[in-house]
Amino acid sequence: MANDSLLLEARQLRKTFLLPDGSRIRAVDGVDFPLREGETLAVVGESGCGKTTLARLLVRLETPDGGTVSFLGCNWLGARRSQLRRLRREMQMIFQDPYGSLDPRQRIGSAIGEPLAIHEPGLKRDERRARLEEAIAAVGLGREVLDRFPHEFSGGQRQRVAIARALVLRPKLVVADEPVSALDPSIGAQILDLLAQLQSRYGLTYFFISHSLPVVAQLATRIAVMREGRFVEIGDTAQILTHPAHPYTKTLLEAVPELPVTPGSFHAD
Ligand SMILES: Nc1ncnc2c1ncn2[C@@H]1O[C@H](COP(=O)(O)OP(=O)(O)OP(=O)(O)O)[C@@H](O)[C@H]1O
Ligand SMILES: [Mg+2]
Repeated sequence: MANDSLLLEARQLRKTFLLPDGSRIRAVDGVDFPLREGETLAVVGESGCGKTTLARLLVRLETPDGGTVSFLGCNWLGARRSQLRRLRREMQMIFQDPYGSLDPRQRIGSAIGEPLAIHEPGLKRDERRARLEEAIAAVGLGREVLDRFPHEFSGGQRQRVAIARALVLRPKLVVADEPVSALDPSIGAQILDLLAQLQSRYGLTYFFISHSLPVVAQLATRIAVMREGRFVEIGDTAQILTHPAHPYTKTLLEAVPELPVTPGSFHAD
């Protein structure tokens, strides 16, 4: 690869849904972007613009109608068997709903251990336990929670567990779809802080989805503005927030006057 810091590259991704009445929705309509190692690319846009569909295409939960994704220099969407297995562990997802993403009958330790059981079946009992304890400590919870069930925890704690499960394999890329929008703002802010902390600690790259510009402004190094299945604008966070080029971006910014958009409050590098 020409640029060795390039982690993932999407080209002309498209996904159309056929509705029961025969009409079609172009949920993702020709999206291109590079994702470099260590950055946080945030996708922001109104409800229904295609953010979740795009995230699901990236993690292969959805099959595109067209386009390509290269990940770690490989044809990710075409990867099969051993290559797929090797690449899959490097890309993990965090979902919006911390209630729906954990099985109520599964103990926390077993939920976090599932990816390990699949990808590192050779781990010995004590090695496995050490990895679980490291993962749960990294998200700020005590090891005693490993033996408990999800119903004993709040939304914020559950989201911490979901993050521990996403990180236990030490992936390079985390795709997070509205990870704080189901939480109280103060709890959400703590989760954003945690994500930032984990990023610098583990050198993570984030593909971060949110409908909220203030949330995005906290974490993103670059912002893509999505509308009706397309990126209308993509650029460094400071540039998008202080010198938006597209009228639609300006409209989004005007809707959140509390954003600190004075030039100089963000640092482009
Ligand atoms: N499985 C599906 N079948 C049919 N239509 C779908 C399906 N998934 C998404 N859509 C439609 O595709 C469009 C994009 O949806 P998507 O969920 O990706 O948007 P979003 O930006 O994530 O919205 P939100 O902010 O509400 O989460 C919407 O019009 C949605 O109704
Ligand atoms: Mg969504």
